[in-house]
Amino acid sequence: MLTKMLSKITECEIKKKLKEMLGDERYKHSLSVQQIARELAKIHGADEEKASLAGLVHDCAKWMSPFQFFRAAKRYGIQLSPTERKQTGILHAIIGGELAADLFGINDPEILSAIKSHTTGRSKMSLMDKILYVADYAEPLREYEGAARVRKLAYKDIDLAMLEAIEQKIQHLLEKKTWIHPNTIAVRNEILRISNAECQRVSREPPVERRNNVDISAQQLAQLAAEAALSRKANNVVILDLRGIASFTDFFVICGGNSDTHLQGIADAILEKLEEYAVELWHREGSRHDSWILLDYVDVVVHLFLREAREFYNLERLWADAHKVELPEAIIEYDEEFDELLGEWEEE
Ligand SMILES: [Fe+2]
Ligand SMILES: [Fe+2]
Repeated sequence: MLTKMLSKITECEIKKKLKEMLGDERYKHSLSVQQIARELAKIHGADEEKASLAGLVHDCAKWMSPFQFFRAAKRYGIQLSPTERKQTGILHAIIGGELAADLFGINDPEILSAIKSHTTGRSKMSLMDKILYVADYAEPLREYEGAARVRKLAYKDIDLAMLEAIEQKIQHLLEKKTWIHPNTIAVRNEILRISNAECQRVSREPPVERRNNVDISAQQLAQLAAEAALSRKANNVVILDLRGIASFTDFFVICGGNSDTHLQGIADAILEKLEEYAVELWHREGSRHDSWILLDYVDVVVHLFLREAREFYNLERLWADAHKVELPEAIIEYDEEFDELLGEWEEE
C-alpha cells in the first residue's frame, strides 16, 4: 500500500485513472514496472514505497499526442531542446513528471525526478532514477531481446544493468538512424567513468542451454548445491524458495564458512557437483579472500558468506516471505585429506 506517499488520492483511485487513460496494455506494463521497481528498491536499499509509486505512474503522460506535449511544455514552462522536439516519444517522461504532481498530488522530488528521466536517463542519476529506468526497460512483459539480460543484471548491480540498458538503447537508435538525446550519452559515459563496470563486463550472456545432459528442476539443483555445501561442512545451510515473490531467480541457497579458504572449498565442491550434472555456471562474483561468493546458476543463486557478511546482508530477513525448503541429508564421506584441510580452515 502506498498510503504513506499519498495525501489526496488512494492507490486504487490512481490505478483506476491510469487504466482509463492508458488502456489495458500500457496499464499492465505500469503494474509490472511497479512490481519490479519495488523488488529492486528492496535489494538495493532504496525506498520501496517511492519506487513502487514511481513505477506505477511513470507513464501517466503516455496517452498524449505530440501536439498535447508541446502545449503542456508551454504551460509548465519547459524549454524543449531540438532533440526533444524531434523525438517526441521521450516527452511523456518530461511532461509525466509534471502531470504526476498535477493529477495525483505527488510532490516527492525523488519520484518526480525518476519519472522525468525514465526515457533518456540524465547526468548524476540517483539510485531511484536508475531503478525506475531499469525497471521500465526490463520489466518481465518486455519482449525485446536483451530485456531479460538487463533484468538479471539489475538484481546484482544496478549500474551494470543501467549501462547494459543504455547501450542497448543507443544501439537501437543507431540502427534506426535517429537522434540520440545528449543525456543518454552523458549517463553512459558517467557510468563508465564512475564505476569499474567495464572491467566486470564478462560473461553476461546466460548460457542458451544451461542443462546439457540431464533434466533437473531448479529445486533439485538447489538441493544438489546444498548437499555439496554440506559435504564440506558449510554452516547453517538454508534453501529459500523465491518462486512467486521474486522474478530474477527461483531459489537461493545460503551457506556459511569459517574462513575464506573454507568458503572457497565449499564453492569448489558446489561447482564440481553441478558440473557432474552438466549444469553451467552463468556468473560468479567474489573469489579467494572475499567474504561473500555468489554462484549464479540463473534459476538458483548460491550465496556463500563469512559470518559477519552473512549477518550484515541478512538475506534471510530480507526475503522473510520465502518458504524454506527442506535440506537434503548431509552426505559426508570420510576423506582424510579433507579432514586435514578442515582443521586448517578452523584454525584460520
Ligand atoms: Fe515510458
Ligand atoms: Fe514505461
